[in-house]
Amino acid sequence: MMYKKDFPIFEHNPWLVFLDNGASCQKPKVVIDGVSDFVAHDYANIHRGLYELSERSEKAYYDSKTAVARLLGCKASEIFYTYNSTYAINIIAWALVRSKVLTKGDVVLLGIWEHHANVLPWQILAEEYGFEVKFFWIKEDYTLDRNDFSQKYDEKVKVVACSHVSNVTGQIYDVKKLKQQLRDDTFFLIDWSQSVPHFVVDVLDIGCDALVFTGHKMMAYTGIGGSYLKKERLKKLSPMIAWWWTIEDVSVTGHTLTSGTDKFEAGTPNIIGAVSLLKAIEYINNIGWMQKMWEHEQEIVKKVLKWFELLAGKVDLIGTFVSENRVGAFSFVLKNQLNFNKIWEIFAEHNIAVRCGWHCAYPLHKQLGLGGTCRMSTYIYNDEEDVEKFFEVLSKI
Ligand code: ALA
Repeated sequence: MMYKKDFPIFEHNPWLVFLDNGASCQKPKVVIDGVSDFVAHDYANIHRGLYELSERSEKAYYDSKTAVARLLGCKASEIFYTYNSTYAINIIAWALVRSKVLTKGDVVLLGIWEHHANVLPWQILAEEYGFEVKFFWIKEDYTLDRNDFSQKYDEKVKVVACSHVSNVTGQIYDVKKLKQQLRDDTFFLIDWSQSVPHFVVDVLDIGCDALVFTGHKMMAYTGIGGSYLKKERLKKLSPMIAWWWTIEDVSVTGHTLTSGTDKFEAGTPNIIGAVSLLKAIEYINNIGWMQKMWEHEQEIVKKVLKWFELLAGKVDLIGTFVSENRVGAFSFVLKNQLNFNKIWEIFAEHNIAVRCGWHCAYPLHKQLGLGGTCRMSTYIYNDEEDVEKFFEVLSKI
């Protein structure tokens, strides 16, 4: 398929079948070249230089935020950058505790399908600050169990946090519908790590308070990600790490916090990473925006689902067969009970990169009674040939 040629990794590894995109994805040449160009021509520190180079560098940094804002459907001033989604969730969880939005006796309600990055920050803070963490369940068809949610969503719940897309099942959750069920004062955080890279999203349409994302799963470099934070919330939240842009004023008697997102970006930010994100979004723009990415993904998803249908009885797909309700992340178990480490090894021997284990989602695996799964996950450069090679090996196993 046409997109593969844009990614040098496949030229350098001609036998590679890369199906571990849920973990991280490959980078197109325009991103690699764009970053090199920026470093060679325009790089300097930002926020502190009045010389032209620093201004060019700062412009690239904020152009990156403008591009992300277009992608998410919000304003650039509502975005803060950090290393990745995990870090952004930690920053927000800490900010909610520090600002006393979340206090003793409160409840944080999480989706059972959460990645550990959206479980552990809450659980660790809960132990220290005396609030509770509870989970809401999914039904047998992998959709959200609304009855269970309604029963658990009582007056004590101050934060609801869940992923838009499960990194295990690929299921897309209707977060807009979930938001409609929430009281206005409930802080609603969505982890968009596995959705922003795949389809058109719109923060304002959903109306959440925070939305975290990561760059490396959408063709940018590692070490760049962040969050959207709703303006009204932003003003009141105190950062986890203080630095000179945390405040509007400081004196011997105290300080006043700034209302901008910069307060969450302590120290010199990942300027080069931000440029890689800008270049990745330019690439998405050039191929026809997220709609095009989704169309391509749906073609591949349908092909993969057909194969899983053919293998029914021998392989259990842990996820829906309804293509439009999922992205290309397919976890499965074999009826012959072969250990997943062995399966992983066999795929690796055939130059096929997949992931096996719990995918940092123990709670979901436990709810489903699974001791681990194998996962193949697709992206823009995967084609029919990749799918066929994968299923040839799976059929043999
Ligand atoms: N969250 C990433 C994955 O699912 C690392 O593989």
